Amino acid sequence: MHVTMVKKQLASGAACDKCIMAEGLLRDRGLWERIDRVVWAVEGQPDSEGMRLGQRFGVANAPFFVVRDRAGDESIVESTLHLMRALGPHGDSHARDSKAPSLSAPSAPIVSKQELDAVAPKLAASQPLDVVRYMLERFGRECAIAWSGAEDVVLIDMAARSGFEYSVFCLDTGRLHPETYRLIDKVRKHYGIEVELMAPETQALQAFVRKKGLFSFYEDGHQECCAVRKVEPLKRALSGYRAWLTGQRKDQSPATRGEVPVVQEDATFIGKLGTQAPLIKSNPLANWSSARVWSYIREHGVPYNELHERGFVSIGCEPCTRATLPGQHEREGRWWWEEATKKECGLHSAAPEPPVLQPALERDL
Ligand code: ADX
Ligand code: SF4
Repeated sequence: MHVTMVKKQLASGAACDKCIMAEGLLRDRGLWERIDRVVWAVEGQPDSEGMRLGQRFGVANAPFFVVRDRAGDESIVESTLHLMRALGPHGDSHARDSKAPSLSAPSAPIVSKQELDAVAPKLAASQPLDVVRYMLERFGRECAIAWSGAEDVVLIDMAARSGFEYSVFCLDTGRLHPETYRLIDKVRKHYGIEVELMAPETQALQAFVRKKGLFSFYEDGHQECCAVRKVEPLKRALSGYRAWLTGQRKDQSPATRGEVPVVQEDATFIGKLGTQAPLIKSNPLANWSSARVWSYIREHGVPYNELHERGFVSIGCEPCTRATLPGQHEREGRWWWEEATKKECGLHSAAPEPPVLQPALERDL
């Protein structure tokens, strides 16, 4: 069972009192975790997602809940108490538990060479939402979305729509823009999710900054700083998962990402199962253009970084990101003092591996 809660946002920006009370009740009863998604019906904005849901189902007052069962049929629950009954120990809420994998549940079977072989070409030709669904149905919370940019919030939105469980982490380099930190909090609340913030390892960071200062990347390149602030925390984060989703697109960088596959065995990092099974990496938006990403954002009311309204396209750390001019490629706003072929920081290999099936997978046969 997948539950979307529609809340009302008043013109003042505050949530309506009834919605606050409903959330409080659900939290008190330990049922807040059962709400998969929260969307807003914004007063005076008939195009907001909650208003559109109200129109579609003929509901005039929020809060209300859109409940989707396993067969995909949707129904409306207008009373919080009725919903609580449905979610309670005697409701049918356990349908969700049996379908969605979770970290405490036994791990999903290991991905075999045959499975990946068979599925990779199909996923390469699939819509991103279907790719996200496949990955989450397969791995649930053992699959994490690596979030930094607009593309990644699109992935979070798709994951929320899929009804499956998922995880989200963000590499908090300590050098992100204040606008990015604000967005992280906005997204947490918007989707009602936890975001794991991965900080750099303290001793390594202190040693690096002591030796090189805070802006060495302008003098001898970004690799060293990225290694401490991004790559090591990524390695640590991925060691807790079996699969990850990134927002990489082919047209982000013809020089380094032109061959990004939709799904692949991660040739660089090791996942939760160590050498027992490969970490699976998926780039569901590989074939989407920036324009397609932005039309999705507008269509679905996906939260985005305020910096996009000030000419920023690709956003990373504050000292290494700048706005781009019309006609400039988005990657020109990143590490602008370096050549295009060096603009990878080690999160993704500079020359991506061909789609999947390296010998390591043979072990799982
Ligand atoms: S980068 O390597 O140049 O910094 P880019 O900003 O294009 O990467 O982002 C590509 C993808 O890498 C993102 O969609 C996201 O999945 C992942 N990523 C990049 N930076 C971070 C970060 N700080 N935290 C988590 N994931 C990140
Ligand atoms: Fe350091 Fe810049 Fe890399 Fe951020 S993007 S980790 S500030 S070099």
